[in-house]
Parts: sequence; structure tokens; C-alpha cells
Amino acid sequence: MQTEFCKQLGIEVPIFAFTHCRDVVVAVSKAGGVGVLGAVGFSPAQLKEELDWIDAHIGDHIYGVDTVIPQKYEGMDKSTPEELVAMIQAAIPQEHRDFTEKLLADHGVPPWSEAGDEVTLSFSAVQAQAQVDEALTRPKCRLIVNALGTPPDDVIKQVHDSGRLIGALAGRLKHGIHHKEAGLDFVVCQGAEGGGHAGEVTSMVLWPQMVDAVAPLPVLAAGGIADGRQVLAAMSMGAQGVWMGSRWLNSAEAHAEPAQRDSYMQATSEDTVRSRSFTGKTARMLKNEWTEAWERPDTPDPLPMPLQGYLTFDAVRRTSRYAGAGETQKVAFNPIGQVVGQINEIESCRDIMFRLQSEYLEALEAVNTLTPAD
Ligand SMILES: Cc1cc2nc3c(=O)[nH]c(=O)nc-3n(C[C@H](O)[C@H](O)[C@H](O)COP(=O)(O)O)c2cc1C
Repeated sequence: MQTEFCKQLGIEVPIFAFTHCRDVVVAVSKAGGVGVLGAVGFSPAQLKEELDWIDAHIGDHIYGVDTVIPQKYEGMDKSTPEELVAMIQAAIPQEHRDFTEKLLADHGVPPWSEAGDEVTLSFSAVQAQAQVDEALTRPKCRLIVNALGTPPDDVIKQVHDSGRLIGALAGRLKHGIHHKEAGLDFVVCQGAEGGGHAGEVTSMVLWPQMVDAVAPLPVLAAGGIADGRQVLAAMSMGAQGVWMGSRWLNSAEAHAEPAQRDSYMQATSEDTVRSRSFTGKTARMLKNEWTEAWERPDTPDPLPMPLQGYLTFDAVRRTSRYAGAGETQKVAFNPIGQVVGQINEIESCRDIMFRLQSEYLEALEAVNTLTPAD
């Protein structure tokens, strides 16, 4: 399974794990792949703490950091966090605040009562730039990845000048082509079935088109991969590696409240929906009363990014921290892809990595035994 991209990075297997959990980053990198820490929910101070921990535990292995600089968002002309917060606060209608609060109260979600009341400015260049600056101080962080658009030219230059690679996610062909034209080093091509922000075209259709459209740039296939047969399918379409998100959510190393794990364990592939209700852009998550409430004609429409994310920041942290309280799961933010229906047990990241490779080899062997008819 060694690809040119593996050689470029000096890794054993081209399996990339997107995760918000530092333990998963370390476990996957130590098992021969690359753990990539999703930084969107971290303030600069929190990110520093996470990266300190990773650096202390990852040994000689490499990792990546994923930031979110949307191509377009409300308030992108604001250059300081204070200006952006003031704009956001003024732009969120009271009707939206009341609706959100009522949904949480009606389902018995407790108010936030933990230490640390810091609201992060997710989904903005103001925060993402600070994250890139922090990541680039870390010698073992070899990749920067951006979700939701081509990173700005100055960030691309900054990452290249530091001797690292920079890539970005693409859920549409034209986004991948734009990444290539901007000088990115690789494209993570995510089909519609993937967890988190996802477009409309499925992986089966999008991956081969992307491989052709951005050649010779390496494409990492994302969206709908949780076993070795799916890895083989991606590699057979010309991908240089696979980028998985959902599978790690129910790994032994992932931090999750038991109630959230149960929701994931019980869900089938039909239980997810693409919804704008948490971030303002279409993202795939478990369907529940929250996602349905925001769809109704008599309720407010989700706001554009980053307003909706700022509005729901408290809902996200409360439904995550108090996942088992009251009817929290009915309004919880549980982002995951359609592969949720394939994830039926909790395994360590090491076991997942091993299984992906052995299933890949079995599937390859099975394909190779399909002899042509005489
Ligand atoms: C819980 C969750 C959160 C995600 N958040 C981000 C993110 O912040 N940045 C990003 O680039 N991708 C994010 N993604 C998308 C993943 O990077 C990845 O492309 C996707 O999970 C692949 O599809 P899969 O879920 O079928 O494995 C997220 C995915 C999940 C499941």
C-alpha cells in the first residue's frame, strides 16, 4: 500500500485519520498512518496544550493539523477577534437565540456549569491564522489541511516556506481544481456520504473525476471509508491514500460520553442527514429532533457561517458534555457519516489500522482471483 505520497511523507501506510482527539492522533501515527488534529474547536491556548501533549507522546512520528478558513463567511473583512465578535453578536436575531434555548430546555439539557467559559471563534480566518502559526512551531507537524475552501495565498506561502505540505478538502470538482491552481500539494476529496461538511456528489462518482482533474496532485479519498474493501475501492480509482473521520469517533481512544457512543452504535446508515442547523453550512450528522426542528417552515432558518456556529456553540458543548442527561440525545450535535451503520464495535486505533490493511489485502486477493473466462 506504499504510494508516492507515503514516500514523500516518510510514512508506512497512506491512512489519514481526521480527529478532534489527541489520543487518536498519536495512536494512528504510531500505527504507521498520520493522525490529523481538527483544530476548529480549540482556542489558540487550547491548541497549544493539545500540541504539547501530542509532541510529548508521538515519538518520532509525524502528524497534521486541520484548520477551517472558509472561502466566504459573514464578517470576513474583520481583522480582530473583538471586531468579529461584536459583528456576530449584533447580527444574531433574538428569535434565533430564544428558539435555540427553548429547544435545549424542552429536552432537559443542563446549563453549562464547567470552568472555562471561553467561546472560540470557530470558522474564521482570525482564529485559523493563530492556529497555523502555532502548528508551524512544531517540527513533527508536517501537514496543514484546510476545510471549506482554498487557504489564502499568504497561508500557502507561509506553510511552504516552513518546508511543510498544505492541502485542503474538496467536495466539488471545481474546488479541487481551484486548490491545484492555488498551488496546494494535495487534495482531500470528500464525497457526500462523509461526516461533517459534505457536498452532494457521492464518493464513488467524485473520487475518479477528482483524480483525473487535479493530476498529478495526490488525492486522498474521503467519505464512506470504514473497512479495507472501501480502502481498495479508493486506491483502485487512483487515490494516493484514504482520509477517514467517522471511524475514529467510536475508537477506544476517542473521548466521548457513553450516551453519544450509544447513539452512534445504534444508528444505521439511514439515520444521518445533511443539515445547516449547527454550523450554517451543510454538514452530515445524526438526524434527531434538533435537525428536524430547524427544517420546519414555522421555525427560524439557520444563519450563515459563522453566525450559526456562534449561536449554537453553547448547544454543542452542552449536548456533548451532558450527553446522557434528560433527552439530550434528541437535540445533540452528533456529526458522523453514513458509515455509522458499519461501526458496530469499539476497537483500538491500532486494531482498526491493522484490520483495514488485512481486509484490503483480502479484498485485493479476491479481486485478483477473478480470472478472465477462457
Ligand atoms: C465529527 C466530525 C467532524 C469533522 N470536522 C471536520 C473539520 O473540522 N475539518 C475538516 O477538514 N473535516 C472535518 N470533518 C470531515 C473529515 O475530515 C472527513 O473528511 C470525513 O469524516 C470523511 O468521511 P467519513 O466520515 O465517511 O470517514 C469532520 C468529520 C466528522 C465525522
